[in-house]
Amino acid sequence: MKPSIILYKTLTDNLIDRLKQRVNIIQVPDLSPDTLKKHADDFARAEGLLGSGGKVDSALLENMPALRAVSTISVGYNNFDVNALTERGIALMHTPTVLTDTVADTLMALVLSTARRINEVAERVKRGEWTHSIGPDWFGVDVHHKTLGIIGMGRIGMALAQRAHCGFSMPVLYHARSQHAQAEERFNARRCNLNTLLSEADFVCLILPLSAETHHMIGAEQLAAMKPTAIFINAARGQIVDEQALINALREKRIRAAGLDVFEQEPIDPQSPLLQMPNVVATPHIGSATAETRDAMAHNAVDNLLAALQGNVTKNCVNPEVLSR
Ligand code: DGY
Repeated sequence: MKPSIILYKTLTDNLIDRLKQRVNIIQVPDLSPDTLKKHADDFARAEGLLGSGGKVDSALLENMPALRAVSTISVGYNNFDVNALTERGIALMHTPTVLTDTVADTLMALVLSTARRINEVAERVKRGEWTHSIGPDWFGVDVHHKTLGIIGMGRIGMALAQRAHCGFSMPVLYHARSQHAQAEERFNARRCNLNTLLSEADFVCLILPLSAETHHMIGAEQLAAMKPTAIFINAARGQIVDEQALINALREKRIRAAGLDVFEQEPIDPQSPLLQMPNVVATPHIGSATAETRDAMAHNAVDNLLAALQGNVTKNCVNPEVLSR
């Protein structure tokens, strides 16, 4: 008999057909308590779980005693209680490779749009304010040859370093737990402590996972260490930053601008002061959101789930130790 899986994301017909050859699909809108109540029997017998965006914690797992494999259509897995999954011998699969370049492009887009004030001046043109040759109040600042600081030198950090070094002649600083010989050899990146990075970089780019260790890693003290001319970019997770401290730093002009793809609360409250600030570029968590990459991520997540259900966790598994249990 084919195993059942809970699918909590819409997939293309193509992928649904592929999955159907191997599993029975129970499609649900989300992982909310209401959905759980409505589909209690389906959740109880499901051996797989596939989707993104919902919380997978002990409370949910209590209702899924047959679960063997979980596959998220994302690289980040902060919505998952990894310890609870591992304790129960459930494999957690994710998509760490297929979105690297797209997220690095997003970071570079935020660097460029904040420095050159693209959104702000484009809006002024649309409002009919371009009535004569522009003056300094429309000017941005250069990106090329400025120093880019990367906090978190994983795959995406590497791809960002490549863009900055090869495309924009930028010196690259990085702060990471371990040394990255490749980043140093290929992109001349220099590893430094957080404080040095914050005080020397013209662009401080955050791209590391959210964990208990990184929660509010950037707060008032760290923002105060940045140069008043520096720009802060976050395409990692909103909770890594103390958002109120960021609002204060921007309000008091202690930093120049911010490019933010992620927020402490998503979607962001439309009343957030961040959205009133002309020097903030806010995007709706579009890090990996291109048609090609989201499609590749969905394919990858389906492959990952099917492999894990067969006991194969050699690729893209967060907790491969589950197999040795
Ligand atoms: C992820 O996959 O975790 C990213 O946040 C998507 O943009």
